[in-house]
Amino acid sequence: NGISSRNIVWHKCSVEKSDRQELLQQKGCVIWITGLSGSGKSTLACALTRALHSRGKLTYVLDGDNVRHGLNSDLTFQAEDRAENIRRIGEVAKLFCDAGIICIASVISPYRKDRDACRSLLSEGDFIEVFMDMPLCVCEARDPKGLYKLARAGKIKGFTGVDDPYEPPLNSEIVIQQEGEVCPPPEVMAEEVVSYLDAKG
Ligand code: PPS
Repeated sequence: NGISSRNIVWHKCSVEKSDRQELLQQKGCVIWITGLSGSGKSTLACALTRALHSRGKLTYVLDGDNVRHGLNSDLTFQAEDRAENIRRIGEVAKLFCDAGIICIASVISPYRKDRDACRSLLSEGDFIEVFMDMPLCVCEARDPKGLYKLARAGKIKGFTGVDDPYEPPLNSEIVIQQEGEVCPPPEVMAEEVVSYLDAKG
């Protein structure tokens, strides 16, 4: 993989993930929320971090919009930059997981191979994908930031779902859908994820 040729050797410390998890009394993991803009990713992330926090669990949210203000402020929305955005967020999420923290990533992450690459960074069971399976027309009708309107007017090029692809997950651990015509309230969505985590110990 080229690492040995760059003379870089992994340094191991005497305090390990298991020690940190013991200290925190929890298991680190990554909850990866994917879906279209306006599908409710950030809303779920906030409700979930609140629900887990109130149960005494240490969590941290990596929100696409927020991370693009700092770490990823150099990246555009072209496919290669979206891939790099997801790769970096996946690596940061992995560090949080190793710290023993429940890391909630809420990012469009439109490409299956980029999401799967993040999954493969983690041990089996540590990556929990949540698909916000909301129809484009619902996301577009919500349009909380007015971005769909701008995209339809041609003022934003390459907007996910409008003139840029979104590849839905095929095997997410959790799928959040509308109940009839209405979206579940944030607390209900969060509870669904918490129940999954409870069931998995
Ligand atoms: S990605 O595709 O995973 O790299 O995107 P992400 O880092 O999650 O950032 C998504 C937010 O950026 C805003 N935005 C756009 N989204 C999609 N396509 C284009 N062209 C675009 N330009 C700006 C938008 O506010 C997204 O936020 P959410 O929360 O998804 O609505």
